[in-house]
Amino acid sequence: MSVLVVGSFVVDLVALCDRAPEAGETLTGKSFNIYLGGKGANQAVAAKRMGADVTMVGCVGCDIFGDDFVKTFVEEGMSTQYIVRTDKARTGCSLVTLETSGQNRICMTPGANLLYTIEDLESIEPLIKQAEVVVTQCEMSPEIVDELAKLCKKHSKKFVLNPAPARTFCDETLSACYVISPNEMELGVIVGKQLISDKEYIEAARELLSKGVQNVVVTLGSRGSLLVNNEQTTFVSAMKVKAVDTVGAGDSFTGSLAAFTDEGKDVLTSMRLSTIVGGLQVQKHGAIPSMPYRNEVDKIAIKNGLI
Ligand code: RIB
Repeated sequence: MSVLVVGSFVVDLVALCDRAPEAGETLTGKSFNIYLGGKGANQAVAAKRMGADVTMVGCVGCDIFGDDFVKTFVEEGMSTQYIVRTDKARTGCSLVTLETSGQNRICMTPGANLLYTIEDLESIEPLIKQAEVVVTQCEMSPEIVDELAKLCKKHSKKFVLNPAPARTFCDETLSACYVISPNEMELGVIVGKQLISDKEYIEAARELLSKGVQNVVVTLGSRGSLLVNNEQTTFVSAMKVKAVDTVGAGDSFTGSLAAFTDEGKDVLTSMRLSTIVGGLQVQKHGAIPSMPYRNEVDKIAIKNGLI
């Protein structure tokens, strides 16, 4: 059993401020920090810290941030064998404005992530074959997601697609998804509609089911998440916590969901456990540094009768 993450490495340059600046405005921030992030790397670390056997493939630059990712993955106990290094672009970088309320705004420049090629992906087909669950996001070239979906279908793998940043997908890619995990806004982009109510989220999710997605898991921020599949439509409430940093919260949820799925748990149980992961993750700063460990999650899960 194992989780394969085909995904992005992005370094987060984070300015903490009382509120995000308006266009043309310069604000004095409170502090500046550099954290390792990127949706792929965040999800890989989240899954690993839940105890899954995780391998991540992707591309970083030949720069200090690329070195930092390799070092951190070694420290986390993950193989770095399949991390491609390029001297043709810098490691991906996000400029993050983080408000003291915990709310964030992110401008992500993919850099080296876009240089992960279809040939690179084809070369790791044996890893796809070995994995139980395969996870990806949308910070690499769009063709990578579509080709990966095909390979997952070919090898009957549980394909978890985190459709962020938002884009549309061909029916073939959607039909390969065991789970798709958009937030409300991303769900709207996928179905090409502006969605504002729970009723509309459920209708949009059902549209994705009709294209062959097995489970639509809509993340609803501080409200929790929503599962729509052919058997049920169920809301899972979020933990009530004081969020200091929401960067990577969705990734902690999707990455841990992949790990729980890999353990053989059903989607709803996995979502309930991942809700704890997300609740713990937002109480600390930095995307990767704040990913919780399994023992912290289990303590709360036992208290709530989840395990
Ligand atoms: O989902 C959060 C992540 O998105 C951040 O770590 C940032 O780098 C962007 O990729």
